[in-house]
Amino acid sequence: MGVSHYLMSIAAILFLVPFSQQTENYECPQKCDCLKQYVDCSKKNLISVPRIPEWVEQLDLSFNRLSEEVTKDFDKLFALKIVKLDKNALHNIPNFLETNQIEEIRLNRNSIEFIDGGHFSVNCSVKTLSLNSNLIRVIEEGALDNLTNLIVLKLNRNEISSLPNHLFMRQSKLEVLELNHNKLHVISGLLFQGLSSLTTLKLKFNNIDNIMDGAFYGFKSVNLLQLDHNRIKTISKGWMYGLESLITLSLSNNLISRIDLGSWELCTNLEMLDLSHNFLMEIEGRTLQHLINLHTLNLCNNNISSVSQEAFSHMVQLQTLLLNNNKISWTVEDMSGPFAKLQNLKLFNLSDNHIKSINSKAFDGLVNLVELDLMGNNITSIQQHAFEAMAKIKKFHLNSSSLLCDCNLLWIVKWIKDKLEQKYITATCAYPSELRGVLISKLKEENCGDSPKPKIVEHPKSHLAIKSKSANLICTATSNPFSNMTFLWRKNNGNISNPTVFENVTMSKKGQSQATSVLIIPNVTNADSGRYQCVVSNKFGTTYSTKAKVNIVTFPRFLKMPSNVTVRTGETVTLDCAATGDPSPEISWKKDGGNDFPAARERRMNVMPSDPRFFIVNAKTTDMGIYSCAAKNHAGTIIANATLNVLQEPSFIRVMENKEVTSGDSVVLQCMISGSPKPVLKWLKDGIPVVHTDRHFFTGDDQLLVIVGVEANDAGKYECEITNELGTKKDMIELKVLPPVAIMVNEEDMTGIIIITVVCCAVGTSIIWVVIIYHTRRRMAAAVHTFPGESVKMTQVVHSDCDSPQMFPDNISEHSSCKDSGTGDSAKQTSFDGVPTERSDQVHFETAVCRSYSPVPEAHKLLPSSFKPSIQVCVNTSVTPATYSFSSHSGNV
Ligand SMILES: *[C@@H]1O[C@H](CO)[C@@H](O)[C@H](O)[C@H]1NC(C)=O
Ligand SMILES: *[C@@H]1O[C@H](CO)[C@@H](O)[C@H](O)[C@H]1NC(C)=O
Ligand SMILES: *[C@@H]1O[C@H](CO)[C@@H](O)[C@H](O)[C@H]1NC(C)=O
Ligand SMILES: *[C@@H]1O[C@H](CO)[C@@H](O)[C@H](O)[C@H]1NC(C)=O
Ligand SMILES: *[C@@H]1O[C@H](CO)[C@@H](O)[C@H](O)[C@H]1NC(C)=O
Ligand SMILES: *[C@@H]1O[C@H](CO)[C@@H](O)[C@H](O)[C@H]1NC(C)=O
Ligand SMILES: *[C@@H]1O[C@H](CO)[C@@H](O)[C@H](O)[C@H]1NC(C)=O
Ligand SMILES: *[C@@H]1O[C@H](CO)[C@@H](O)[C@H](O)[C@H]1NC(C)=O
Ligand SMILES: *[C@@H]1O[C@H](CO)[C@@H](O)[C@H](O)[C@H]1NC(C)=O
Repeated sequence: MGVSHYLMSIAAILFLVPFSQQTENYECPQKCDCLKQYVDCSKKNLISVPRIPEWVEQLDLSFNRLSEEVTKDFDKLFALKIVKLDKNALHNIPNFLETNQIEEIRLNRNSIEFIDGGHFSVNCSVKTLSLNSNLIRVIEEGALDNLTNLIVLKLNRNEISSLPNHLFMRQSKLEVLELNHNKLHVISGLLFQGLSSLTTLKLKFNNIDNIMDGAFYGFKSVNLLQLDHNRIKTISKGWMYGLESLITLSLSNNLISRIDLGSWELCTNLEMLDLSHNFLMEIEGRTLQHLINLHTLNLCNNNISSVSQEAFSHMVQLQTLLLNNNKISWTVEDMSGPFAKLQNLKLFNLSDNHIKSINSKAFDGLVNLVELDLMGNNITSIQQHAFEAMAKIKKFHLNSSSLLCDCNLLWIVKWIKDKLEQKYITATCAYPSELRGVLISKLKEENCGDSPKPKIVEHPKSHLAIKSKSANLICTATSNPFSNMTFLWRKNNGNISNPTVFENVTMSKKGQSQATSVLIIPNVTNADSGRYQCVVSNKFGTTYSTKAKVNIVTFPRFLKMPSNVTVRTGETVTLDCAATGDPSPEISWKKDGGNDFPAARERRMNVMPSDPRFFIVNAKTTDMGIYSCAAKNHAGTIIANATLNVLQEPSFIRVMENKEVTSGDSVVLQCMISGSPKPVLKWLKDGIPVVHTDRHFFTGDDQLLVIVGVEANDAGKYECEITNELGTKKDMIELKVLPPVAIMVNEEDMTGIIIITVVCCAVGTSIIWVVIIYHTRRRMAAAVHTFPGESVKMTQVVHSDCDSPQMFPDNISEHSSCKDSGTGDSAKQTSFDGVPTERSDQVHFETAVCRSYSPVPEAHKLLPSSFKPSIQVCVNTSVTPATYSFSSHSGNV
C-alpha cells in the first residue's frame, strides 16, 4: 500500500465512514445489515462468522448456530466494543485475547458448561459480561482474574452449585452481580470478598439454606440484595455484616420463621424490606428493631398471628405496610394503638386476616393513612371512633358480610359518606335478620337494636399463684339472647397450648344463663407468670376480657433454722435463721410469741442487717424462752422455734440471818436463792430434813420456813441446801428460842391469824403479795369466849424487799410497780367470808397496793390441813391503792 493510499484510508476512517463501507475491505457482509459501525448478523442461521469489516464496533451474532470457531474471527476487530453471541451453539467461552478494547460481551443462551481461564488478557477492558441461561456448573478458581474492569456480570439461569473462594478478588469495579436461578445452597464466609464496588447482588431462586457469618463481608456499597425464593430459615446478625449501605432487601418466599434479635442493627439504612411468603408467626417488640428508615415493609403471606405493641414503634418513616394474608386477629381486636407510631403510613393492607372485630383504638395514630384494606376479614363489629384518627383516609376496602348492625354501628354511615370513595365498600349486615344483606352505608337509625355479642360479667382476676400449687382463672360471659359461646384463653397475647379448661353453663341470680370457663393451671411453675385473658366469641362477635396478671410466688423455705441452745449466764447466744422464697421472705423474730426481748431492752441483743442471725451477749435467765423465727412473703409464712435455756449456778441472794424468837411467837426463816434451772431447796434442822407439821410450813417456793407457836425444841441450826444441775450450795443460821414472856397467852387459847405477806419483786418490777390467813373455827370460837378484847393477834408480817431479784418467773406477771403501802388506814371494810362474825371487830392488816399479781397455787398445800384455811390472796388493784380489812368477832390489833 502506498503512502497516499494509507492517508486516504485514514481520511476514510476519519471522515468518510459511511462511504467507506463501499470499499472492498470495509464492505458490510452480504448476509448482514450494517448501520454505521453496527453490524447486525443475527438470526441468519449462520454456522460460521462471515467476513466482518474491521471498523465494526457493535457486532450482533445472536440467534445463529455458531460454535467454537468464532474465536479466531475476532482477532483483527480492533474497534469492536460490543459483541452479542446470544443463542448460539457455543460450548465454551470464545477467546477475546486480542480484542483489547472490547467492553461488552453477551453469551446468553448457549451451552457453555464451565468458565475457565485463558480467554481474556490481563486487565482486559470488558465491562459487561452476560452468561445467562447457559449450562455453567463450574467456575474455575482464578477464571475471572484478568477481568479487572468488569462492572456487570450476569450468570443467571445456570447450574452453579458452588463458587470457589476468592473468585472475585480482582473485581473491585464490579457493580452488578446476578446469580439468580442457580443451585447455590451455601454462601460461605468472605465468598464475595473483593467486591468493594458492588451495588447489586441478585441471588433469587437458588437453594440457599445456609448463609454463613460474614458471607457479605467487604460489601461497602451494596444497596440491593435479592435473596427471594431460597430456603433461608433464619435471619441473624451474623450474615448482615457488610450490609451497612443496603437499601432494599428482599427475602420473600423463603422458610424464615425466626428473626434473631439485633439482626438489623447493621443495616439501619434499609428502606425496603420484603419478607413476604415466609413462615413468620409473630412480630415481637424487637423483631424489627433498628429499622428506623424503613418505608416499605412487606410481611404478607406469612403466618403472623401475634404482633406486639412495640413491634412497629420505631418505624416512623414507614409508608407502606403489607400484612395481608396472615392470621392477625387480636392485634386489631384488642390492642390499644399497636400501629400508633406509624404517623407516615399511607398504605396499610390487612386483607385476608382473621379479624372479627375492630377495637376503637386499633388504628390510633395513623394520621396520614390514605388507604386501608380490610377485605377478606369476617368482621362482625366495629367499635365507635375506631377510624377517627385516620383523618386523610380515602380508600377503605371492606367486604365483610357478617356485620352486626346494632345501634353502635350507626356512626359508620356518616363516616363513610364524609370520608370515602364509596366504591370500595361492599360490606353488608348479617344481623339483625331483617337487615341481612343491607349495605352498611344504607343503614338507618330506626332499624338498629341491642348487641347480641358476648358480654363478660366476670373478668379473670389478677393474683399471686404459689409455685407447685394449682391456680385458677375464671371468666364468665353472657349474651342477649343467650347463644353458644366459645372461650379461648390467651397468655401474654399468645394462645395457650393445651390448656386445662373447665366450662359450664349456669343460671345467674337474675335468672339469666351465663357461661363460665375456668382455666386451671394444675402445677404452677415460673413459666406460668404472665397476663391472662379470655376471649369469648359467639356468632355475633368476639369480646375480650381485661388482662389478669398472674405473678408466681414461691413459698418460703428455711435454709437455716435456729436450734435449741443451752448456755450459762454471761455467755453469748447465736440464733441462726435464713430462708429462701420468691419474693425473698422477710425474717422476723418473736420471743414466747411476743415482741418483748429482755435482751433487747438491756441492749444485749444484736441483729445483723445483712444476715438474719441474732446474738444475745451476756445471757441472763430472763432471756430464756422460745424464740420463733418467721419467714414471710406473699405466698405465706413459715415459723421455726428454738428454745433458749440459760443455766445459772445455785446461789443465795441474801445472807441468811440468825433469829431469836419468844417461845409461843411465830418466826419466818428466809433463804432467798436463785439459779437456773430452779434449784431444789431443802431445809435441814441440825442435819435432819424439816417436814411440815401443824406448826411448820413452807412458802415462797420453799424459800420461807414458817414456824408457828415456837417451842423450845425448835431452837437449833437450820440449814438451807440448794441444788441444781450445776451444783449444790448450803447456808446455815441459828434459831434461838427465848423463854415466854410473863403475860403469855396460852397457845391453846390464842386466836391465831397468821398473815404472811410475801412481797416478791422480779427484776424490780413485780410484786406479789401473798396473804395467807389462817385460823380455825375452833380457835376462833374459843377466842370469842375467852378473850373478847384481844382475840386477834397478828403474828407476823414478812416483808421482803423490793430490790431483791426474783428468780422464778413462773408465777410472776409481766410488770407492776414495786410500791407497797404502809400499814393501816383502812377505808373499806370487807366481810370475810366463812368467818362467823357475831361481833364485828375490825382487824387492820398490812395492806398493799398491787399493780397485778399472780396467785401462788401452792399456798393451799403449804398450810396444815387442819387449818382449813381461808386464804385471801392479795388482791390486785390496778391503779388506785386499796386497803383491805376484814371483820371478825375480835377487836383491834
Ligand atoms: C490472563 O492473561 C494472561 C496473558 O494475557 C494469560 O496468560 C492468562 O492465562 C490469563 N489468565 C486467565 C485466568 O485468564
Ligand atoms: C493491571 O491493572 C492493575 C491495576 O490497574 C495494575 O497494577 C497492573 O500492573 C496491570 N497489569 C498489567 C499486566 O497491565
Ligand atoms: C402457622 O401458625 C400456626 C400457629 O399459629 C401453626 O400451628 C402452623 O403450623 C403454622 N403454619 C406454618 C405453615 O408454619
Ligand atoms: C366468613 O364467613 C363466611 C360466612 O359466614 C364463611 O363462609 C367463611 O368461611 C368465613 N371466612 C373466614 C375466613 O372465616
Ligand atoms: C349449642 O351447643 C349445643 C351443645 O353443644 C348444641 O346442641 C346446639 O346445637 C348449639 N346451638 C347453636 C345455636 O349452635
Ligand atoms: C360451674 O362452674 C362453677 C365455677 O367453677 C362452679 O362453681 C359450678 O359448681 C359449676 N356448675 C356445674 C353445674 O357444674
Ligand atoms: C409440679 O412440677 C414440678 C416440676 O415439674 C414437679 O417436681 C412436681 O412434682 C409437680 N407437682 C405436682 C403436684 O404435680
Ligand atoms: C427444742 O426444744 C423443744 C422444747 O424444749 C422440743 O420440743 C424440741 O423437740 C427441741 N428441738 C430439737 C431440735 O431438739
Ligand atoms: C412455736 O412457738 C410458738 C409460741 O412461742 C407456738 O405458738 C407455736 O405453736 C410453736 N410452733 C411450733 C411448731 O412448735
